[in-house]
Amino acid sequence: MQLLHTQKKWATLSVPLLLLLLLLIGGQPAPTAALIEDVLDIIHVVKEVTTGVLKAWEIVQSSPLAASIEFPLMREKQRKVLQRLKMVSQQIDETEAQHAQYVALAIESVNKFISHNVPLMTKMNDISDTMNRISSRYQQMQSYEAHKDKLEMSTLITFAEWTVSPNAHSVHHLMDRLHLTLLGNGNDEKLNSSSSNLLTQLASNYEVSADEMCSTRQSAQQFVYSLYTDVALTELKGYTMMEFSWMMLRVYGRGNYSQEAELMRRDYERRTERTLKLLKEVMRRADRIVWRCDPDKHVPQVTYDEVTRLLQGYIENEVDLNSDETCRETCAFYQSTRSEGCFKNLYCSRQPKCTGKLYGCQFVDSDMWVCPAPLSSTRRYEYIEYENGRVLGQRKNCVRGTTKVDSWWRYLLWHCSYCFCLCDEQGLKSDRFFNLRESVSDVKQNKVITGLRFLKKNRIFHLQIQEGQLLPRGAINESTLSWKPVDEYKIFDRNVAKGIDYHTLSYESRSIDLDDIMKTDDNSFVVTGVRFRVLGAHLNLEARLSEFDFKKGELIQPEVNSVWQSNDNTDVSGERRQKLLLYNADVPTRTVVTSLPLSKHNQYIDFVNSGMDKDAAQSTVPFLDIQDVVSQPPVPLAGIGIYYKGRPGYGGFLAPKIITYDFTPHVQLPKSIN
Ligand SMILES: *[C@@H]1O[C@H](CO)[C@@H](O)[C@H](O)[C@H]1NC(C)=O
Ligand SMILES: *[C@@H]1O[C@H](CO)[C@@H](O)[C@H](O)[C@H]1NC(C)=O
Ligand SMILES: *[C@@H]1O[C@H](CO)[C@@H](O)[C@H](O)[C@H]1NC(C)=O
Repeated sequence: MQLLHTQKKWATLSVPLLLLLLLLIGGQPAPTAALIEDVLDIIHVVKEVTTGVLKAWEIVQSSPLAASIEFPLMREKQRKVLQRLKMVSQQIDETEAQHAQYVALAIESVNKFISHNVPLMTKMNDISDTMNRISSRYQQMQSYEAHKDKLEMSTLITFAEWTVSPNAHSVHHLMDRLHLTLLGNGNDEKLNSSSSNLLTQLASNYEVSADEMCSTRQSAQQFVYSLYTDVALTELKGYTMMEFSWMMLRVYGRGNYSQEAELMRRDYERRTERTLKLLKEVMRRADRIVWRCDPDKHVPQVTYDEVTRLLQGYIENEVDLNSDETCRETCAFYQSTRSEGCFKNLYCSRQPKCTGKLYGCQFVDSDMWVCPAPLSSTRRYEYIEYENGRVLGQRKNCVRGTTKVDSWWRYLLWHCSYCFCLCDEQGLKSDRFFNLRESVSDVKQNKVITGLRFLKKNRIFHLQIQEGQLLPRGAINESTLSWKPVDEYKIFDRNVAKGIDYHTLSYESRSIDLDDIMKTDDNSFVVTGVRFRVLGAHLNLEARLSEFDFKKGELIQPEVNSVWQSNDNTDVSGERRQKLLLYNADVPTRTVVTSLPLSKHNQYIDFVNSGMDKDAAQSTVPFLDIQDVVSQPPVPLAGIGIYYKGRPGYGGFLAPKIITYDFTPHVQLPKSIN
């Protein structure tokens, strides 16, 4: 397909252009208001294109068909028709430029990702070849217009005859072929089956290939629409060329051609109807989720951030795990305890004490070398190497030097072993807070949420929102897009309270619910706010949804018509929330393959320590992906979600996702055109 190169920024999102075409059909004057009710913004363009074409026919029809018509008069008519053509084609060009950037993204991704699928590629090549030919003929026509005063009459006539002739290279034929490749030659029942039409094939291909979305940042529905836009504009060009060709032939007294033009319009109408039906069906079924793929390189504080020191591997001798300084038990006896002292200033005096609670202690081996982490690190140890050869964490050059740590016997009866426990200690190195304040878009300025990202500010995780002004017919004013600054409070500030302003993760409360929040039954609400709350011991996502008028692009009294929505399912009610297990996981940034979404709606996950062998349990997983999650083009959101992505064996990432507004209902089948 053609790639459109343009710097012009897209300012408005419009519903399928094909709709426009419908208006052209039948050669009837201006469409009725009812037909354009809540379709697109671009309808103005269509209306004008339609009117332009029809007006041009008036010029042609104003005088009788006569071979005897005088040459100067013919010239005058030709000039007028071509002027009209210029107006019409300018509108097509402008619309094309508006969409170019997003169409190009979609097509680039198609070309990149279907290379393994030979039949699909053949079809794509075929269709792009057809579209290129139509477009280049169209450009030729535009250049005739530019030189209209110097043009030989015969040049125009040849062009016009060629355009509408029934031979295999004519525009007429190319349009047929475009339609056939796109929809297959099956009947309408076959339209639904994926095998027969390109749009469905590309859509399903897009949904299964996670990488494809990485480059477009369009939901599958947006992707389908982008492709369709390209096709629709090409069809509009073809249609315009044919109409003007008939007109030209008529101007030059080559015949009446009213009948031919009428037949062509009927054809066009039929095809458009079919294409729209298909489009609506494919869009209805297409996924509307946009999630952010892993970056090429994971960079701390840029692409990801971490909860730190929630549960962290910690070595302590049994003698210090009880207040009696005894060694009568085994490590495993201490499942929930504290560090009670520092017996004889042994190893305990050489490491920062865990002042919180200790959980899940276990015995690994008696004697070990400990490599401490740099003082600035949130880790305690780089690695621990036991005498029996087991190494916890990644053994490497130890900058601060290893320390030999040996267990000992007391009276030959009791072994005072060093245990490996998990330390839950709050402190300056432990970032474990989640903002509970709401974050809402500026509804007074008619702004809605268009994107999300996690952000750690003053050690607190926030879900930051991108907001933008709503425009008519589902568009967003791109020049108003901005990330709303988060509340910059600190946990020790006056008037800031735990449980009200922020949530503190702890051993007992460290789950986060993985939900998609949206109104499934009502398409007239968009997201204008987000917040977390604590439900049971879980962080639980809530979205504020506000009613809006699609056609006007206005929120309808958002103070009144807004609701906070969430998935209230706790473990005890309804369908159980399912826990995603993370056990013994490696640090997620160590994997060489990219993450895939692994969670579903109505699940939850716990923040846990990383694996003992892999990381000496020094990190907290999952990490949080902090990249922007936005769509191209920006659109209002029907919903939002928190999900988990990763690879088995690795700790993975938590990240927000967005659910784009559903444009399907606004792809309207023509009522009655004629
Ligand atoms: C052209 O053909 C149409 C329909 O065939 C007819 O109604 C119309 O009168 C014709 N116009 C001229 C100028 O002959
Ligand atoms: C395609 O399937 C949908 C439901 O799956 C149905 O409503 C629609 O009528 C079908 N279209 C055709 C052309 O069969
Ligand atoms: C988009 O926003 C800019 C800046 O606020 C404003 O000047 C412009 O009029 C807006 N465009 C539309 C179509 O409302």
